[in-house]
Order: sequence, then C-alpha cells, then structure tokens
Amino acid sequence: MEKQFVHCQIDEGIAVVTIDNQAALNALNAQTLTQLEKTFDELGQNPDVRGVVLTGAGEKSFVAGADISEFLKVSGKDAPEFMARGQRIFDKIEAFDRPVVAAVNGYALGGGSELAMSCDIRIASENAIFGQPEVNLGIIPGYGGTQRLPRLVGPGMAKEIIFADERISAQEALRIGLVQRVVPRGQAVEEAKKLLKKILAKGPVAVRMAKKAINEGLNMSLADGQKLEASCSGVCFGTEDKDEGAKAFLEKRPANFKGK
Ligand code: CAA
Repeated sequence: MEKQFVHCQIDEGIAVVTIDNQAALNALNAQTLTQLEKTFDELGQNPDVRGVVLTGAGEKSFVAGADISEFLKVSGKDAPEFMARGQRIFDKIEAFDRPVVAAVNGYALGGGSELAMSCDIRIASENAIFGQPEVNLGIIPGYGGTQRLPRLVGPGMAKEIIFADERISAQEALRIGLVQRVVPRGQAVEEAKKLLKKILAKGPVAVRMAKKAINEGLNMSLADGQKLEASCSGVCFGTEDKDEGAKAFLEKRPANFKGK
C-alpha cells in the first residue's frame, strides 16, 4: 500500500522512515499515525531491516506535534482513547526489537518531541527546536510526554518545559541530555545512519538484550532491573555470537556475528 504521509526506504539493512506532510510541518494527523504504525509493523516482519532512522521531510520540521485541527472534535470523554492510540504506537516504536535513531531535523514540538523520545537515541540538527507547547492549547502532552520527558531530563526541567512552554534549542537539548549529538543542518539523517552502522557491526542479540534491559529496567526497582539484566545476559551467553565474540578477541580479529 502506498502511504501518503510516511515514506520508507531500506538500504544496507537500515530503514529510513520519513514523516512527510510538509504543508503542516509534518504534524501527525490520524492517517499519518496509522501509516506510521503500519510501517513499523512491516519493518518488524522484515528480517533484512536491522536498524531504523526516523525523521521528518524537509529541513524545517521533524514533527510539529499532533494535528491541532483534529482537536475540536475530541471531547473530554474521547480524549483518553485519542491519546491512548498515539501512546500505543509510540510504545511500539520504543519496544521495536532493533535500534531506532531519531534524526531531528527541525521543530520537534508536542507529539513530535514525544515521538523523538520514543526512539532509542536522538540526533539533532543545529536548527532543531524541542518543546511541549500543549499548555498553550489548554491541554497537556498526551503521547507520553509527561512520562518520558521527566525520565530523560529530570522532573524539574520537564516541569519547566511543560508548564512554561520553554523551547529548547539543539545545544540546550544536548546539555540536558534530551539529545545525544548535534550536527550541522541537513546532516542528521547521515549522522544517524553512521551511528547505526557502528551499532550494526556489534552482536545483534546483545544490542537487542541491552535495549530490553535498559527500557524495561527503567520502570523497575534496581533489584528487579538487575534480575532482568541477569536473565538478558543468559540469552546472550546462550548464543553462538558469544563464542564468536570471545574467539575473535583472543585471535585478534574482527568478530563475524550471525545474530544467533
Ligand atoms: N497541527 C496542525 N497544523 C500545524 C501544526 C500542528 N501541530 N503545526 C503547524 N501546522 C501548520 C500551520 O497551521 C500552517 O498551516 P497553514 O499554512 O495552512 O496556515 C503550517 O503548518 C505552517 O505553520 P506556521 O505558518 O505556523 O509556521 P511558522 O514557521 O510560523 O511556525 C511553528 C512554526 C512554531 C512550529 C508553529 O507552526 C506552531 O506553533 N505549531 C504548533 C506546534 C504545537 O503546538 N504542537 C503541539 C500540538 S499538541 C500535541 O502534540 C498534543 C500531544 O501531546 C499529542
């Protein structure tokens, strides 16, 4: 099925998923969310895909939020379900069993910032602007922002951003840990691919288990998180890749991982 608002290009094991609705600065309308979910479902079924870059079309905006024009028809009774749908799709991206890097190439506001936060790692171009402007609209972040932002930057900073709509430049986002790298304008996708290529040379099961341990462990006590870490180590130690990794080190050669 041709998707109007979400394009996907796969090359050398890396899928570049682009949200493309430039007339509305790539805002997420209902169709875009459906297409985004379908794209990730398809990528999940494709064993050739080993990592994903998520970006927005053009150089002005990553995603400028949920589509505000849809809000007038959403009542207080409808809102929990409306938000739960976006949350479910973003949760799916967060739990995707291969690494997902956001290439934030401009505005990442509201649902756009929330989408970037559901990715594993964020690379921002120097013109990127992050923010949660929902209070300007009389609402709160609804696609996970009140939960993921304080986990990433701490509750005080998250409250300043959410209560006062403090906009965050790329450099400030780097300082507070909201993004991991800042690159010149137009280079976020290439930098994200470069980082993914480095990750893809590592043991795939190890990267998958590290992602699981970090993501699921963040919502556990330290003791439970460490139990999870031990069980994920069990999965890694049961792979052929573990023997290959150790042998390659001892034989002073690069490892040839098979992902099993
Ligand atoms: N929804 C719908 N349309 C949007 C949009 C959005 N979130 N963001 C931008 N657009 C549209 C504008 O309406 C405009 O359309 P027209 O040309 O038809 O008028 C077009 O995109 C270009 O936008 P601007 O003319 O406003 O561009 P600008 O350069 O002057 O400003 C901007 C850029 C600062 C990003 C501004 O567009 C803006 O403030 N956008 C809204 C950002 C926002 O509030 N996002 C949060 C949405 S709520 C949310 O996401 C809830 C949640 O948690 C799920």
